[in-house]
Amino acid sequence: MYDGQPEPGRNDPCWCGSGRKYKKCHHAIDERLQALYEAGEEVPVRGMLKTQADIEGVKRSAAVNIGALDYVAERIGPGTTTADIDRWVHDYTVEHGAIPAPLDYEGFPKSVCTSVDEVVCHGIPREDEVLKEGDIINVDCSTILDGYYSDSSRMFCIGDVPPEKADLVRVTKEAVEEGLKAVKPWGHLGDVGAAVNAYAQAHGYSVVREFGGHGIGLEFHEDPFVSFVTEAGTGPIMAPGLMFTIEPMINMGKAPIDMSDPNGWTVRTADGLPTAQWEVQIVVTEDGYELLSW
Ligand code: MF3
Ligand code: CO
Repeated sequence: MYDGQPEPGRNDPCWCGSGRKYKKCHHAIDERLQALYEAGEEVPVRGMLKTQADIEGVKRSAAVNIGALDYVAERIGPGTTTADIDRWVHDYTVEHGAIPAPLDYEGFPKSVCTSVDEVVCHGIPREDEVLKEGDIINVDCSTILDGYYSDSSRMFCIGDVPPEKADLVRVTKEAVEEGLKAVKPWGHLGDVGAAVNAYAQAHGYSVVREFGGHGIGLEFHEDPFVSFVTEAGTGPIMAPGLMFTIEPMINMGKAPIDMSDPNGWTVRTADGLPTAQWEVQIVVTEDGYELLSW
């Protein structure tokens, strides 16, 4: 078949582990993917399509991830250090029986990413980084529960922020909503990035090219890579069961980034202007998508 795996017999149990007969389960999806594959489309392999059990597991993980971000939202303000945010997320996550996914991930030293103002992503929490009125910060939280991964991030405005920064934060959230509107089962993943990019450009902003969203569920970062500078009608087919994040990084100024921080992680805008990011995790369904983490 399209993914090089053998096709089960019609009355055999479905490959997804649902316990249902193949003909009553993934047979129809496989037929459609096979036809698209034969027509030259890029199709997700079977292993990328999440089962109902996977989705339930991810939802339990996401409940902790959402709770951790809500916990931050209730407390963050002027005088908070990014190390405080790290402690809040770490302790909340562990108290709910889960593991902060960033901790020790490829050597990342903390439990959450905290990215202030011109930091695009992968800011490392520090005791000496004190939030002050006018700052904007992305808190990017990821959780492992029973082996299931959830990942979402939010922006927080500290006190009153200058209107240009508040606009950037709002428009970036709206860009994610535009991306969500473009999620259609059997559509192309490139439609999502095209919608995000068009919205950002219409507001005079630019979208970071080097980083994007990703498949997720049984691993932190799975295929596909989700770029937000794509053309509509390109990229893999969004088959039901495909789970991924929408997390554009949108710059007030130009798109180029600076990755020269000696800590090996923290990414900044090359022009030093502010940047914003919101991240949601979704799964494509037969008639749209389901929001899993935000
Ligand atoms: N949460 C980030 C993402 O959205 C990944 C951070 S990797 C880390 O994909 F190690 F820095 F945490
Ligand atoms: Co992510």
